[in-house]
Amino acid sequence: MNNEFHRDTWIEVDLDAVRHNITQLSGRLNNDTVIMAVVKANAYGHGYLEIAETALESGAEWLAVAFLDEALFLRKHGFTAPILVLGATRPEDAALAAQHGIRLTVFSGDWLRKAGNVLDRDTLNVHLKIDTGMGRIGFREKADLKEAERFVADSSRLTIEGVFTHFATADEPDRSYADWQHERFHEFLEVFEQQPEMIHASNSAGAFLRDNTAFNAVRFGISMYGFVPSGDIRNEMPVTLQPALSLYTKIVQVKQLKKNDKVSYGATYTAEQDEWIATLPIGYADGWIRQMQGFEVLAGEHRAEMIGRVCMDQCMIRLPFKMEEGTVVTLVGRTENDCIMLDDVAAHNGTIHYESACLLAARLPRIYWENGVIKKVFNHLK
Ligand SMILES: Cc1ncc(COP(=O)(O)O)c(C=O)c1O
Repeated sequence: MNNEFHRDTWIEVDLDAVRHNITQLSGRLNNDTVIMAVVKANAYGHGYLEIAETALESGAEWLAVAFLDEALFLRKHGFTAPILVLGATRPEDAALAAQHGIRLTVFSGDWLRKAGNVLDRDTLNVHLKIDTGMGRIGFREKADLKEAERFVADSSRLTIEGVFTHFATADEPDRSYADWQHERFHEFLEVFEQQPEMIHASNSAGAFLRDNTAFNAVRFGISMYGFVPSGDIRNEMPVTLQPALSLYTKIVQVKQLKKNDKVSYGATYTAEQDEWIATLPIGYADGWIRQMQGFEVLAGEHRAEMIGRVCMDQCMIRLPFKMEEGTVVTLVGRTENDCIMLDDVAAHNGTIHYESACLLAARLPRIYWENGVIKKVFNHLK
């Protein structure tokens, strides 16, 4: 198995956890509500292909990504399920999307006119994005939406398949802003002479906490990977999620520092006494960023602090005692007696788990587990 990669740092993804998380959601939705598995950004660092496959096997019917290139990548790897591009696509690429049956997000009449000019053969299914309060892409005026509907009605190459919006605060305990966005979305829906087939608003937080915002599709991202969308709503979550991702490395060198010896760039760390330190083959180019300095990881079962500056491909920890080279170090995940969550990494860095997950670089090999056995090893560099 391990001819697939040749470095001692790797991600493990538990596909059963992904399956569990999707099942938790589908158990709460009406049978006819479509789950769109959001697999943008390398499936939040978990890996496009295996997550897309597991999601579709587990009840998701659609895939959603941020960019056309991500959708084309999925098509290239044989995914035939409907895919929606949530972000902006260049209008001149509309024909390419149509050719591959990829759905695009439309946010202005100007975009539609430009796209209409390049569509000469295939029909493009579009989802109109309404900006009800996120302030990102989307129609803000009902008149513009109305005009867009008319434009599409006159076009033989465009179909309005969906309409959607995105909540700015679905993961906050105070519901007022999301409720207001929800109301505004309803007002926009009244503009349509004919209601689009798919209407969607909820992300993970909305899908779990706001039953009335499911409409007939939900876009399921962070919680599919086992994360509560934000710590503020942890107690409100009606289900228990299972985090899917772990990150491991192995000690490549152990050495003893003498008192006053220095570690890493800038020589910012000084040993206060004779200390055992270990070098780990992971660095900021893997998404284990420089702010990780000071964070505690698990060398075997023992907490060990990251010391000195994190380098591009390596970093150092201070060991409680001399350990063997080759000892497994858990950076994210469970050991028998302890656990480091990606939320801990995010908290240490002053960010959110979304960002910490997405930062995990494609060059990290990934091992996928299913039913207690390794299903696949994926090395992006192979
Ligand atoms: C438009 C849109 N829908 C859905 C999602 C998924 O959200 P979440 O990961 O919170 O479930 C995202 C993620 O950023 C998004 O941008």
